[in-house]
Amino acid sequence: MTTGEENVTREDIPLKQGKKSSSWYNYCNEDCLSGSKFLNVAFGTLTIVITIALLVQIYYGDYQVILGCPSWKCGHRQSRVFKHRHISIEKGGGNAVDAAIASAFCLAVATPHVTSLDAEGQLLIYNHRTRLLPTVIDFSGPTVVSDNIPRLVLGLAYTHQHYGRLAWKDLVQPAANLARQGYLISKVLVQAVTKAKAQNLYGHLEAGQMITHKNLSLTLEGIANIPEPELYRFIQSTNQPILSQALKSTFNNNNIYLPNTPAIGRIVMTNLREIEGFNYTIADTAKAEYYYELARITQAVYQEQNVSELFHQGTLSNVGVMDLDDNYVSLVTKKDKPCSRMPIIITDNNVICGRRMVFGASDLATATQLVTSLLVARKNTTDGVEAPRFYIIDNGTLAIEDSHLPAFDDDVLPYFQNLTRKPVRAPEPYPSSNIVEKIKDDLSSHSDSRGGGIASRF
Ligand SMILES: *[C@@H]1O[C@H](CO)[C@@H](O)[C@H](O)[C@H]1NC(C)=O
Ligand SMILES: *[C@@H]1O[C@H](CO)[C@@H](O)[C@H](O)[C@H]1NC(C)=O
Ligand SMILES: *[C@@H]1O[C@H](CO)[C@@H](O)[C@H](O)[C@H]1NC(C)=O
Ligand SMILES: *[C@@H]1O[C@H](CO)[C@@H](O)[C@H](O)[C@H]1NC(C)=O
Ligand SMILES: *[C@@H]1O[C@H](CO)[C@@H](O)[C@H](O)[C@H]1NC(C)=O
Ligand SMILES: *[C@@H]1O[C@H](CO)[C@@H](O)[C@H](O)[C@H]1NC(C)=O
Repeated sequence: MTTGEENVTREDIPLKQGKKSSSWYNYCNEDCLSGSKFLNVAFGTLTIVITIALLVQIYYGDYQVILGCPSWKCGHRQSRVFKHRHISIEKGGGNAVDAAIASAFCLAVATPHVTSLDAEGQLLIYNHRTRLLPTVIDFSGPTVVSDNIPRLVLGLAYTHQHYGRLAWKDLVQPAANLARQGYLISKVLVQAVTKAKAQNLYGHLEAGQMITHKNLSLTLEGIANIPEPELYRFIQSTNQPILSQALKSTFNNNNIYLPNTPAIGRIVMTNLREIEGFNYTIADTAKAEYYYELARITQAVYQEQNVSELFHQGTLSNVGVMDLDDNYVSLVTKKDKPCSRMPIIITDNNVICGRRMVFGASDLATATQLVTSLLVARKNTTDGVEAPRFYIIDNGTLAIEDSHLPAFDDDVLPYFQNLTRKPVRAPEPYPSSNIVEKIKDDLSSHSDSRGGGIASRF
């Protein structure tokens, strides 16, 4: 099912190339998608797209560092593990939720500094055939705890109970194997640990070195082997994740789905609503005034809504999955709360088989700029994610990327200076966002170069 793709998902060859057609023999047409006439005729190999965006903050003294994913499928052994996992998901008839659960466990191993078994998180689960409002599963509240299992396990067990198809064991075992067999440490991780002066936390790391987590593998074995009925008994009415419907709004003839918890979703919608009021066209996006207005509106919303004070821009890992039954899943896990990071799903509200996008964003400013570069500037996944971004830091200070390319045009910067007393450089590394997209039956994905451009596509 992996169609040899894993051979090129090395760290030095990030998945920027983009486009690949899904290999099933079934055209997305609106008649088919509307229901009963749908024939799920899959010839050849199945294709699942998983994009993983990872952000981490290491607190160490005065240092606050955001890292990209250090090592995901960078080595041969790792490829084997993941390949194996996906073969089992395919054979067992797993769905996007299964893939997201299995990926979340693998990330808890491969990126221990980003997410962990104690991480909290949120999922958006959407089906584009029913097109019902996505379900939000939120396991980030203080009530979602168990004496028996860590929080991520509780959240994913609940998700599995309600939406998974494969056996629990098959979803956790690959992560246990990965912890036992080890993975390769990347240059990005070494740099970040050095920058954070966190060597005493991690020991001396060298890029290319194999790292194993013996204890974690034993823990995961134990979790994998909990019989499902017993696992589900740990979820009680008092500690279960909060299930809700996603917020839905429209923007430039697209549907945007976001979780309503925490309330950052509503603030993103408010910001987009204001921007939409300007009726910007694609031609406007070539003008400096356009970026000035985006920044001005966003800055004002930060200030009015106290965004910087209310929401911590905490750690995040993001898994976006689209499966062949048109289930879309965006999962973010995070270590800090209340957190401004969010899973996002976008669909075209005129054309059923138009652009559908699954991604995650780190904060209001990033979410706003991703949405506008995709839906106003109409950029493709690569250009949309790589477009230059501003950030709002502290009490509304505008900060600009200094070392990301492409940068804002020179004529934009004087406009930005109207919004901030002196130009501020955004702290590095910058938050990264990855995206999975489907247009008709064509899948594409892009992994942000800000996070090292590391993603996996299966
Ligand atoms: C995205 O758009 C740019 C500019 O139109 C183009 O050069 C690039 O090839 C496109 N990338 C993909 C993956 O389609
Ligand atoms: C692994 O677990 C053993 C037994 O619980 C403990 O003594 C040891 O310190 C752990 N090692 C690490 C690296 O956490
Ligand atoms: C945007 O379009 C709407 C509807 O056509 C119109 O009422 C509104 O005045 C326009 N806004 C601007 C800023 O031109
Ligand atoms: C933002 O904070 C100010 C001062 O702390 C407060 O007066 C205001 O009501 C807050 N606004 C919101 C939307 O919470
Ligand atoms: C943020 O606002 C508070 C209160 O208005 C002020 O005391 C503080 O200095 C401001 N911080 C920054 C970084 O501007
Ligand atoms: C902002 O800066 C630009 C360029 O320096 C200037 O032309 C413009 O009038 C300023 N004010 C506003 C509100 O855009």
